[in-house]
Amino acid sequence: MIPPLVYAAGIQQSLAEGIANKLGTIASPNQELNHLTHLYLSEAGLSFFHPEARSTNQFLIDFNSGSTGWRIKRANHEKLIKKALGRSEKPLKILDCTAGMLQDTLLFLSLGHQVTALEQSKILFYLLQDGISRSEDQSIFNQLDLKHMNACSYGSQAKNFDVIYFDPMYPLSKKNALSSGKLEYIAKILEVESLKNNPMHDFEVLQLIPAKKMIVKRPIKAESFSSQLNYQVMGKTTRFDIYI
Ligand SMILES: C[S@@+](CC[C@H](N)C(=O)[O-])C[C@H]1O[C@@H](n2cnc3c(N)ncnc32)[C@H](O)[C@@H]1O
Repeated sequence: MIPPLVYAAGIQQSLAEGIANKLGTIASPNQELNHLTHLYLSEAGLSFFHPEARSTNQFLIDFNSGSTGWRIKRANHEKLIKKALGRSEKPLKILDCTAGMLQDTLLFLSLGHQVTALEQSKILFYLLQDGISRSEDQSIFNQLDLKHMNACSYGSQAKNFDVIYFDPMYPLSKKNALSSGKLEYIAKILEVESLKNNPMHDFEVLQLIPAKKMIVKRPIKAESFSSQLNYQVMGKTTRFDIYI
């Protein structure tokens, strides 16, 4: 069930009502709802709060504060992704089946590729749209088509992709939940929307989409989804399994 959307002040009322309507929930000015699970619209943007999340901050997608930091911090990850994509003369058409916080999609876009990104969660989709609308760099999103959809239902429309990219959720251990409050928040959002993850099933469906290659991100020690993989690109904590 989608929680209520609380707005900070009257000035946000009509925007809040519009978003709440699309999400299928109510918009309310009642700040007493703020200690329960809720969405919140203020001048800072649209955010999500869950009282049981370890992070006491609201979960808000902000492409501005990370914009200089995200590439530097992820330089190693970027190297791995480049290796996984391989050399190409022209921009690739990539289907990111698991949009999440769009971090990997941002890397693809920054490398000049064209991305269709799919996110199954309605809440996350609206948080992303809000983050994109507040981004100071709109140009990076020119080659992005973000859709609210389960990737398994997109298969029949998926045409002419060079790369299918799949980065499913995996069970959060205490260690990685703590190190990534954001992933914990995504897990909470999926719980609230009763969205169950079935990565093995999704992999089997997505593998049928015609493309030059499929890249699957996995924790370094996790088993591969299939023994038919062609090669792997190894990082310290994650790896990419490549299926051609
Ligand atoms: C581990 S996160 C992906 C993180 C993302 N790669 C990033 O860089 O921010 C997995 C995300 O994929 C979404 N997801 C999982 N299975 C999906 C599916 N079959 N279709 C669409 N979205 C899916 C989840 O809701 C979650 O937001």
